[in-house]
Amino acid sequence: MKNKLTHPVFRLISDIAEEKGLTCFVIGGFVRDLILRRPSKDIDIVVLGSGIDLAENVASRLGKVQVSIFKNFGTAMLRYKDYEIEFVGARKESYRRNSRKPIVENGTLEDDMKRRDFTMNTLALSLNKSSFGELADPFGGLNDLKNKVIRTPLDPDTTYSDDPLRMMRAIRFAAELNFTIDKVSLKSITKNKERITIVSQERIMEELNRIIAAPKPSSGFKLLEKTGLLSSVLPEIQNLKGVEKKNGQAHKDNFYHTIKVLDNVAKKSNNLWLRWSALLHDVAKPATKKFEPGTGWSFHGHEYLGAKMIPGIFRRLKLPLGNSMKYVQKLVKLHLRPIVLSRDEVTDSAVRRLLFDAGDDIDDLMLLCEADITSKNDTRVKQYMSNFKLVRKKLKEIEEKDAIRNFQPPISGELIMETFHIDPCRKVGIIKNAIKEAILEGEIHNNYEEAYDYMIKKAEELGLEKEKNNLPRS
Ligand code: CTP
Repeated sequence: MKNKLTHPVFRLISDIAEEKGLTCFVIGGFVRDLILRRPSKDIDIVVLGSGIDLAENVASRLGKVQVSIFKNFGTAMLRYKDYEIEFVGARKESYRRNSRKPIVENGTLEDDMKRRDFTMNTLALSLNKSSFGELADPFGGLNDLKNKVIRTPLDPDTTYSDDPLRMMRAIRFAAELNFTIDKVSLKSITKNKERITIVSQERIMEELNRIIAAPKPSSGFKLLEKTGLLSSVLPEIQNLKGVEKKNGQAHKDNFYHTIKVLDNVAKKSNNLWLRWSALLHDVAKPATKKFEPGTGWSFHGHEYLGAKMIPGIFRRLKLPLGNSMKYVQKLVKLHLRPIVLSRDEVTDSAVRRLLFDAGDDIDDLMLLCEADITSKNDTRVKQYMSNFKLVRKKLKEIEEKDAIRNFQPPISGELIMETFHIDPCRKVGIIKNAIKEAILEGEIHNNYEEAYDYMIKKAEELGLEKEKNNLPRS
């Protein structure tokens, strides 16, 4: 490990610690990521003594570096180049039943390690001259890292009950790093799942978003479901689980379908909100489920009800309520459109309407729809995919020809009012809408001249005449 602490800042900390007679280590996530060869910019230094003193000394040696001191926590933080270095005195923590805030006392290095979440996060590298870069690993963290296992340094009931957010962290690390959670740990998470209720919604969402952003999010969702955490964190997704059978006909399990769609999207895009759209695309299936003897199972209108459910879900989860929510709503609402379109003959007007409704999100919508094909029947999948190809080709052609994606009406309401000398009224809206419809239906092209002639024609039908009314407005 000696050659790994190559950054000069570690030598500097080491020199100062030597001068001051302090023992200190790099600990936690930075060491874990160093071994896993993942880039990391957060460095945690644990000091047997005062972290604040060491930080102030390091900062004055570096010059022009600001130290932020958190006296109550006994910690100090400084930014150096693009690193964030936190100094903390080694400590012992004890917890109360209803709070994530511990009572803190000074402790040994091993006390400090014990209060941490997973063995892989207890690893420490010495910064003292005589042992520079040597690994301190009393809990077998290196072995767990090699075996890709998430294990707690103490009895998991203590570790998870002390800080229940760690249950989410265990699952997040498992999904992010493709690790397994040790059996005893997994059992303990199941047992302690109710304690997640003392964790703030914001913290839960930070972890949940990282599970969704993982390379294969389904692995995290399977663990959330298996441990029972999903019921409290995202009950709507838990509700998708299960298969009902009537008259020998079963519908698919929408939980497993959904997380497969999420994985499919994750293979193509890192857009968090596109991934959320995948997670929520069938959220209204339980509420719209029906069985009719002739036709079997149906979920009519689940895309519309799903879109209506999104604001409530986002509000409860404390997710942002602006454009990202509107985007998810739009994708959920439109997620069946390309497939319906690909089943029938792909007409120009249907493609134009889809482009009009999806706007700039059309490419993401197509990704979602392709990801939604999770059938195990290869021939069917091939058929869908080749139909989608056709839809994509048509979308491109129509877009080049008609520029519908960011549709701006070629004739404004103002112009209608001026031409026919009328004040704002229902007729203006009727004419504007008729022009839009004519363009989408392909009756006229998306340009000013054709739209102008169409306006005159439509206005005549409504009893408005250009010449007759071409007098100053009364
Ligand atoms: N830690 C913990 N319990 C928590 C959060 C953090 O024991 N609920 C400890 C772990 O030892 C962790 C260290 O504090 O390594 C730093 O935490 P943090 O920066 O949140 O996470 P990292 O482990 O660095 O991982 P990541 O950057 O991926 O979040």
